[in-house]
Amino acid sequence: MTRRPMVAGNWKMHGSRAANAALIDGVLAGLGAGVAAAATGLTAEVVVCPPFVYLADAAQRLAGSAVELGAQDVCAEPGQGAFTGEVAGPMLRDIGCSHVIVGHSERRALYGESDELVARKTLAALASGLTPIVCVGELLEERDAGRTHEVVGRQLDAVIAALRASALGLAGLAQCVIAYEPVWAIGTGRTASPAQAQDVHAYIRGRIVEGDATIGGWIRLLYGGSVKAGNARELFGMPDVDGGLIGGASLKAEEFVAIVAAAQ
Ligand code: PGA
Repeated sequence: MTRRPMVAGNWKMHGSRAANAALIDGVLAGLGAGVAAAATGLTAEVVVCPPFVYLADAAQRLAGSAVELGAQDVCAEPGQGAFTGEVAGPMLRDIGCSHVIVGHSERRALYGESDELVARKTLAALASGLTPIVCVGELLEERDAGRTHEVVGRQLDAVIAALRASALGLAGLAQCVIAYEPVWAIGTGRTASPAQAQDVHAYIRGRIVEGDATIGGWIRLLYGGSVKAGNARELFGMPDVDGGLIGGASLKAEEFVAIVAAAQ
């Protein structure tokens, strides 16, 4: 089963107009991706996710290139309305996004996002035609207590349950990408070993296969948490790791380009 690898850069709350322009130019030059995907040697799907306010700028800069644009969050309400401070999926589509990260552990931990809210955001993204990159992952104490599968399974099940209850049904999962990001590995320099990543990825895929073998076989599972040029190849070499969600290392063009090369 060949799944197209994906590398997504989560810029988090970093950047400025000038820094982002330089970063995008560096990535496009490094990947030879300043032209449409078909004209490059890129086999991996490459996405960058700048902060909301810079998305329109980034869309302009990426226009006609092989690199796609994602947001870091989306409102759970699918349409327009009185939701001060929120950004709706159709707005993200309108300015050129194709992807959106939902349920990042920083959103869960710092902004109180529950499994249910993350599931609603996933549905809102799908309803807008965005590809949600749904993040799951356990805390260090949960791993130490042997609860990794239980926690990741619970987070995943919330999304699956919401899909089943929606008009999309489980088939909606085929439009999603799942990112496994152990919280203890995010921004800490402490990466999951390839074996640890593979173990959880295989668990996630198996759980999806239980619901639908075809979707389980096709869905892309990204690993995130201190991925760097130096460890990417080993991680991406695992059978159920289909690429990465990259934080810190996505802010350096050279490093990000090298990570994409490792996914090719
Ligand atoms: P990191 O972040 O690569 O800086 O660890 C990954 C993420 O939070 O998506």
